Amino acid sequence: MKKIIVAIALLALPALSLAAGGEGYPLEKAPIDLHNKASLQKGAKLYVNYCMGCHSLEHQRYNRLARDIGLTDEQVKQNLIFTGAKVGELMKNAMPKTDAKQWFGVVPPDLTLIARSRGTDYLFTYLQTFYLDPTRPFGVNNAVFPNAGMPHVLWELQGWQKPVYEVHKAKEKGAPETKALTGFELVQPGSMSPPEFREAMADLVNFLSYVGEPAQLDRQRIGIWVVLFLALASFIFYLLKKEYWKDIH
Ligand code: HEC
Repeated sequence: MKKIIVAIALLALPALSLAAGGEGYPLEKAPIDLHNKASLQKGAKLYVNYCMGCHSLEHQRYNRLARDIGLTDEQVKQNLIFTGAKVGELMKNAMPKTDAKQWFGVVPPDLTLIARSRGTDYLFTYLQTFYLDPTRPFGVNNAVFPNAGMPHVLWELQGWQKPVYEVHKAKEKGAPETKALTGFELVQPGSMSPPEFREAMADLVNFLSYVGEPAQLDRQRIGIWVVLFLALASFIFYLLKKEYWKDIH
């Protein structure tokens, strides 16, 4: 009995530590809708304009993207390819890795699988929480990725925001106060209003979620047929069973 209790306690531990680890900046739920083609197209456009200069999508081909998000190859050529790549090529960029390392201290990661490794809520929050911090090399910091090596590349759209802290008095005498980041104050507006920027980031994260698993769309469509097939097959097997057992009863 004791062993069982210990085992249950051990199983519960990770859940407890997760619950207790609420120290970090809270993540905002990303409104993902992979069926919204207009949103995926807007996200793709933002991506090639603002992200692809530094980040590649090494496993994504332009023409597959075109088909999946409802564009023709011609539309992709006109609107999404700025690197001179052919429509059948992978969405790589031309930044040499050694230069990137020198410029940013780290090589910007490939983003094909980022939505799966970090989660869409993280990305949605990350993209909205760059804030002014004069102590950092690019003058900005990030709420969910402290000391990120990425500049605030979307400042033209979002503007600049400064951090708002909540100061917690020390519990014991003499101990230093702690401060927690609770939000932001827009000090210089960008070309988008805050709700517009939020929606644009939802589109961008929606796009990255699609890129992380392009088969998601097919899988959902095929899944419905599989479930229907299983239901029909069960019904037929049931009739068959009744037929077989008829004379035995
Ligand atoms: C000027 C170059 C540059 C541009 C443009 C850029 N990034 Fe980055 N990005 C970086 C660098 C450098 C890092 C690595 C940061 C680090 O590890 O400290 C990074 C890291 C990231 C990460 C990883 C965060 C993590 O938790 O590991 C994400 C996600 C990301 N960028 C998304 C984007 C998106 C989306 C865009 C387009 C809106 C974009 N980046 C545009 C340079 C860039």
